[in-house]
Amino acid sequence: MGKQGARALAAIVMAAGEGKRFKSATPKVLHKLCGRPMLAHVLDSLAPLGAVRVALVVGRGAEAVQAEAKRHAIPALTFAPQARQLGTGDAARTGDDALGRFDGDVVVLPGDSPLVTTKTLRGLLAAHRKSGAAATILTAVVDDATGYGRIVRDAKGDVERIVEHADATSAERALDEVNSCMYVFDRAALRSALTKVERANRQNEFYLTDVIGILREKGERVVAWRAQDAAEIMGANSRAQLAELESFVHARVNEQLMADGVSIVDPSQTYIDPTVKVGRDTVIHPMTFLHGDTRIGAGCEIGPNVKATDSRIDNGARVLFAVLDQAHVGSEASVGPFAYLRPGARLAHKAKVGTFVEVKNSKIGEASKVPHLSYIGDADIGRDVNVGAASVTLNYDSETKVKSRTVIGDDAKIGGDTMMVAPVKIGKGAVTAAGSVVTKDVPPGSVVKGMPAKTFRKRKRSPEGEKKK
Ligand code: UD1
Ligand code: CA
Repeated sequence: MGKQGARALAAIVMAAGEGKRFKSATPKVLHKLCGRPMLAHVLDSLAPLGAVRVALVVGRGAEAVQAEAKRHAIPALTFAPQARQLGTGDAARTGDDALGRFDGDVVVLPGDSPLVTTKTLRGLLAAHRKSGAAATILTAVVDDATGYGRIVRDAKGDVERIVEHADATSAERALDEVNSCMYVFDRAALRSALTKVERANRQNEFYLTDVIGILREKGERVVAWRAQDAAEIMGANSRAQLAELESFVHARVNEQLMADGVSIVDPSQTYIDPTVKVGRDTVIHPMTFLHGDTRIGAGCEIGPNVKATDSRIDNGARVLFAVLDQAHVGSEASVGPFAYLRPGARLAHKAKVGTFVEVKNSKIGEASKVPHLSYIGDADIGRDVNVGAASVTLNYDSETKVKSRTVIGDDAKIGGDTMMVAPVKIGKGAVTAAGSVVTKDVPPGSVVKGMPAKTFRKRKRSPEGEKKK
C-alpha cells in the first residue's frame, strides 16, 4: 500500500445493544462513568481522529442515545438504526450501510468501552496503515479474560481468528490475549466479509469477530496490535463491571495527583474525575467528590465530606463538609462545616461562609463573613461585612414571583436574625439590630432596628474609625 497517509477515515460506533445484564430502563451506553455516559467518553476519544463520516448504530433507547451523541461536536455524524439487536456483525453491517459511498479505512468501536484514549486509537490506526493489513485488531493481555473474545494465533504466531468466550474450548479459554472489539478495517474488505458472517454459534448472533477468520481464509492480512495499557480496553457488560471501571479510574487519577504533589489522605475514599485539576500541597480528606470542570488551587484543605461540581477553589482555601455547584471560593477563604454553595456563589479572598449557610448567585466580598445559619441569595455583599447568625436575604416575592437583589455595602454589620426584604440596599457601614426586618434601603452609617425596621439613630462609631488597624 503506497500512500497510506492519504487514505480517508470513517468510523462506526456500535451502541444499539440492549445491555441485558444491566436490567435497566436506561440504554447501556448511557450508564455513567465518572458522571458522564460511557458513550460520551468513547465519542470524545474518537473525535480527534477526524473521521470524515461517523455512523452511530442505535437501537435500544435510540432517541436518548442520539440526543447524547448530538451534544458532541462530531462532524458528519449519521445515525444507523439497527432494527433488531442480532449481534455485533449485524451492527457493523448496519453502520457500514450508513457510511454510503466511501473508500478508505473504517475504525469500529463498541459504545461500552469508555477507557480507550485517543492516543491508543491513533496508535492502532498508524499500525494499520503501516502494515497495510485488511484488518487491525486492538488486543490486550489481561489477567482475567472471562467474557472476552480470545485471539487465536496460528503456528507462525499470526492471528487466525477470534473465538468468543461462550464458544471457546477450555484450551482456547486459557488464552490471555483478548479482543477489545476495536478495529481498523479496510472498508471494502470489511464490507465483503460482513456478507459472509453467519449465526452458527452458541449465542445465535452475527459476530463481527467472525470477519477476522473470514478475511484470513481469503488470504487477507490481519494484524493484532496490543494496547500498551490493557486497562484501556475494558468494557462494561454489567453494573458490577461498570463499578470496577469507575474505581479503576479513580485509583488512577489519585495516583497521578499524588505523583504531582497533592496529598490524598485515603485514596480509597476519594472520588475525583479525570477532568479535575488540583494544585500542589493541597490536602484532600476522605469522602471528597470532585466532578467536572472543578479547579482547585495550591495549598488548599479540602474535605472531609466535600462534593464540588464545576467549581473553582483558589489557593489556600479551606472547605469542609460542603456541597459546591458552579461556585467560586476565593484564595484563603473558608467554607463549612455544613455549607451549600449553589451556582453563582462567589467568595472573595478571605471570605467565610460557615455552618448551615446556603449561598446562591451572590458575591461575598473580601474578608466578609456569613458564619452561621443564613441564606444569602441574589446578594452583593461588600468587604469586611459581618452577617449575624440566622440572617436571610428574602430574594423571592411569592406573589409577584419576582426575584430581587440585596446589596450590602462595605463594613456593614448585619445583626443576628435580620430579614432583608429584597430589593433592598444596606449602605456602607450601616448596622441592623438583631431581629430587624429591613424593607427599605438603609442609609450608609445608620443603625436600624425593629419590624419593619426604622431608623432610630446614627451609628455611634464611624465605620472608618472601626476599620483603622
Ligand atoms: C464483544 C466482542 C468480544 C470482545 C468484547 C470486548 C463480539 C461478538 N464480541 O463482546 O470479542 O472481547 O466485545 O468488550 O463482537 N451492539 C450493537 N448491536 C448488537 C449487539 C451489540 O450495537 O446487535 C453493540 C453494543 O451496544 C456494545 C457493542 O456492540 O456497545 C459490543 O456488544 P456486546 O454485546 O457488549 O459485546 P461483548 O459480548 O462485550
Ligand atoms: Ca461489551
